[in-house]
Amino acid sequence: MEIHKVAVIGAGTMGSGIAQVAATAGCSVQLFDASPEAITRSQKNLLATLAKLVEKAKINPDESARIAANISYVSQMTELSNAQLIIEAIVENSEIKRALFAQLETIVAPDCILASNTSSLSIASIAASCKKSDRVIGIHFFNPAPLMQLVEVIPAVQTANEVLQVTIETISSWKKIVAVAKDTPGFIVNRVARPFYSEALRLFEEGTASLATIDQAMKDIGFRMGPFELMDFIGNDVNYAVTESVFTAFYFDPRFKPSFTQKRLTEAGFLGRKSGRGYYDYSEQAIPPVAATDAQLRQQISDRILVMLINEAADALFLHIASAKDIDHAMTKGVNYPKGLLAWADEKGIDWCVNSLDALYHEYHEDRYRCSPLLRRMMREQTTFFN
Ligand code: NAI
Repeated sequence: MEIHKVAVIGAGTMGSGIAQVAATAGCSVQLFDASPEAITRSQKNLLATLAKLVEKAKINPDESARIAANISYVSQMTELSNAQLIIEAIVENSEIKRALFAQLETIVAPDCILASNTSSLSIASIAASCKKSDRVIGIHFFNPAPLMQLVEVIPAVQTANEVLQVTIETISSWKKIVAVAKDTPGFIVNRVARPFYSEALRLFEEGTASLATIDQAMKDIGFRMGPFELMDFIGNDVNYAVTESVFTAFYFDPRFKPSFTQKRLTEAGFLGRKSGRGYYDYSEQAIPPVAATDAQLRQQISDRILVMLINEAADALFLHIASAKDIDHAMTKGVNYPKGLLAWADEKGIDWCVNSLDALYHEYHEDRYRCSPLLRRMMREQTTFFN
């Protein structure tokens, strides 16, 4: 089945971006939102975005007109009856999403694929709200959707294989890189990336180094932003909420335990750039923070955070959350990591990974530092992820 008619529900940040991606790929897109103001705003923003792209010579005026003409804005859900694929990007609330999917099923054709852009909810639970639950799938874009190359595709236990295949083909034809993930909390990126923040927070809480030193240590090894700069950029409230939801969804696995430092900042309203203060002060009179020049300390910091990230990626592979290739793609294309974590593990050496994790476990005796059984097995068998 080739998909030409797409509908997007929710004309907020994500829905507007997804509509732009599908329209740019040549699909005829209907964009629906319960709020007329959201539709007006989305339409205005799209035209401004397209004008900017023309100005920067990324697209020509004809392309801009074609993309704009491919999107129609609808005010009634019943108008979506001819859609072949519907992507939902409404509020992150399970009950509201389930009600929407149940209602959608009464409007669309039996072979219409129904997808959710949820970041944290179970696709199986959303699918269960439909009578024909095998047509439901997760299609998780990253923000901003037109710029980020990665899309996680998440089949639920109910999803038909054909629906998965059509979804992969469609999203790939939209010039996105697809990573297929199991329907588990955080999928790939939001699960594997947790130690980037949590281990940095832990190092800071232990007084190992200043915020700026920890940030610089990660930039030394190629990350575009340090963990604290990134949390301030994302917003502490948003980042904390994801951490807490992943922790809860994993039945309180201590590996995902949130940090009180971040919780208190959120409670205080120190949300990051958007509130003028987070880990750093963004006011004009603020003194720019300076990182320690101690190269050995910076290396220790980056090694510890990196090995924790590698351990999480290895565990995701061990538990068949995704393939090794997709796990590495997810981190490089979804969150701009300088290298795939599994390729990085090969480069550092599996023995180095196991020994570093064992040293941390020996020091702390905490579950968060337990080495993935996969890394241990690989060390025993002297194998690597890719070579
Ligand atoms: P948003 O708040 O910018 O937009 C949501 C839109 O949905 C609003 O315009 C609202 O009027 C509309 N809406 C709410 N309930 C509705 C209903 N029952 N029927 C029709 N329209 C309804 O939210 P955002 O950030 O675009 O997120 C949307 C979804 O995408 C959420 O599930 C979120 O978890 C997910 N997501 C968000 C990312 C982000 O960085 N913002 C990244 C990836 C996924």
